[in-house]
Amino acid sequence: MPSTEYPTTHALLARYQRNRARSAALFSLLSDDAYYSRPIALRHPIVFYEGHLPGFSFNALVKTALGQPGIDPALERLFARGIDPHESSGGTSTTALEWPSRAEVRAFADDADRRVVEALRHAPLDQPGHPLLDQREVVFAILEHEEMHQETLLYLWHRLPFAQKRAPSDYRPHTDGTVPAHEWCRVPAGRAALGVDKTAVPFSWDNERPAYSVDVPAFSIERHDVTNARFMAFVEAGGYGDARWWTPEDWTWVQSEEREHPLVWERADDAWYWRGMFARIPLPLSWPVYVSGAEAAAFARWQGDRLPTEAEFMRAAYGSDAGERPHPWGDAAPSPAHGVFDFTSWDPHPAGSHSVGASAWGVEDLVGNGWEWTSTPFAPFPGFAPIPSYPEYSADFFDGEHLVMKGASIATAADLLRPTFRNWFRRRYPYVHATFRCARSD
Ligand code: AVJ
Ligand code: FE
Repeated sequence: MPSTEYPTTHALLARYQRNRARSAALFSLLSDDAYYSRPIALRHPIVFYEGHLPGFSFNALVKTALGQPGIDPALERLFARGIDPHESSGGTSTTALEWPSRAEVRAFADDADRRVVEALRHAPLDQPGHPLLDQREVVFAILEHEEMHQETLLYLWHRLPFAQKRAPSDYRPHTDGTVPAHEWCRVPAGRAALGVDKTAVPFSWDNERPAYSVDVPAFSIERHDVTNARFMAFVEAGGYGDARWWTPEDWTWVQSEEREHPLVWERADDAWYWRGMFARIPLPLSWPVYVSGAEAAAFARWQGDRLPTEAEFMRAAYGSDAGERPHPWGDAAPSPAHGVFDFTSWDPHPAGSHSVGASAWGVEDLVGNGWEWTSTPFAPFPGFAPIPSYPEYSADFFDGEHLVMKGASIATAADLLRPTFRNWFRRRYPYVHATFRCARSD
């Protein structure tokens, strides 16, 4: 794969400020009464994130890497870490913490932000051999951390009552698409690079390292993500009421949570609706369905197929007869023609409406429109070492409970679109913008 350009420090400062502006714009969509609410019981209330984003950046770059003094030990601790959503700890739980006033959170956030900008402008960021500043690693870590949490914010906002959000005046979901034909693409046997060496790219997280390639036998994969239309057949066939399609743990979950359809679908007046970001709309049959990994795996089993492995996804997306490429479509920089990512849409677009972004094998929408569940448990590559700027980032989740997700969603920053970037969630986590497609061995 061709090596990417190394951004200047000036470009990294600009990216930091762009990120801060986007986070502020996302917070400005909410009415004040949403601030202490907790739209997803398994995650912190909204107030946490306003402090966490600059608080994390300040702690990692200014305090830990550069050794400068802190701001306020109690607030730094309060905003230090998120929580890993686990279905058994959710439900009715309320926080025991007393959250500070919004004015207090903002004062802390502004201080932290000022100190980070100061460091990005004047501190010696590139220190070869330094555990956190070699290749300016901690700078990329804080940038990507904020970008990933902008996706967290969007899927939290998605669950809020519509009355607590201000829809942009140009909000208009892209519902005008036809359901694509059900087609398979054949992918010949070949190698797939899953990991990358630290020095080969400007930045990678620990779980992407080191370089690691595997042989992938020939297989077939669906050209498009499973649409609401196709998932409807599973729902109407009684898929949520039939233990045969579910693992024992997933079946227990379906029953105890009384799941009968994807969370993003809503039923009213004998009709199906999709919960859009700012409005409930008649279910767009051409959109990719958004589901948990458990539901994706159940659908695949019902169809007589399976989810792709991480290695199969990589081969489907980046492989070609002439070697591996940096994007499914080749070398061109990602643009809105290639797929739906980088906050260009509040909801998905119809499956198959970005064929310019197809991979060498004709597989569409691999990057954008929704993360794609794989069947691969999130685990380290051989030679894994925790990243010094955030040692718990991945290592805390190598527990066999999380599945690797690949590609990108509508709310994935373009900066994160490198082949080796890995996302992960618990298989029954239903909140993320995540879809899937099926695979079968030849
Ligand atoms: C990598 C997206 C699963 O959101 O839980 C943010 C990213 N880790 N702060 C998450 C993360 C710590 C993480 N994911
Ligand atoms: Fe975080």
